[in-house]
Amino acid sequence: MTTQSTTTKTSAFVLFVGLLFAAGCGGGAEGADQAAADDTSSLAAAPAADAAADDTSSVAAAPAADAAADQAGSDEGERVYGRVCVTCHQADGAGIAPAFPPLAGSAVATGDAEVPIKIVLSGLTGEMTRDGTIFNGMMTPWASALSDAEIAAVLTYVRSNFGNSADAVTEAQVAGVRAATSSQTAPYTTDDLGIAGE
Ligand code: HEC
Repeated sequence: MTTQSTTTKTSAFVLFVGLLFAAGCGGGAEGADQAAADDTSSLAAAPAADAAADDTSSVAAAPAADAAADQAGSDEGERVYGRVCVTCHQADGAGIAPAFPPLAGSAVATGDAEVPIKIVLSGLTGEMTRDGTIFNGMMTPWASALSDAEIAAVLTYVRSNFGNSADAVTEAQVAGVRAATSSQTAPYTTDDLGIAGE
């Protein structure tokens, strides 16, 4: 990603930007939103100065104030969705019947988080009926391609977009399911997960 020589420059730049934000905060004229944004930037900037890695800054933003963390999570979630899931489930989450089921309004996507986490980690196959349409395809596993943080972010994005409204998924939840299901080497079937539908 970055070479050794640019890493130092990047660190210095990130520190500098952090200082600018800190100075901006001192003005006290910004509204609450601006102040929250500044907080996130300086929190993220401090660890980023150490490692100057993209991943570090997004992880560093997570422990920030709740609203700021949600914002950071949904940005990363939107990126992962656009890179990985959109091909099949589409930008509006409607899927493409009868090949790819919708995530919009999906009781599985918005239900107990353990189930969609398992699906993204290990994949899914087998017949399922959704809104009267029969799907019988295969979703490939993403356990080795996506980190716990990326899976948490993308599922949080899915659960809070397309008209969906369900709790965020945390990195710790994904790590827990990943550890507990490490022996799952084949995609789950819809019967395994009890989600075949009508
Ligand atoms: C290559 C196409 C493809 C990609 C990419 C893909 N999926 Fe899927 N997904 C499927 C198919 C096909 C099914 C249904 C499998 C079946 O019929 O058993 C499915 C099912 C699901 C379900 C269950 C839906 C329900 O109502 O039961 C969820 C949740 C899901 N996918 C989430 C995701 C997320 C999140 C991503 C991105 C990280 C993703 N999928 C990427 C093809 C894909």
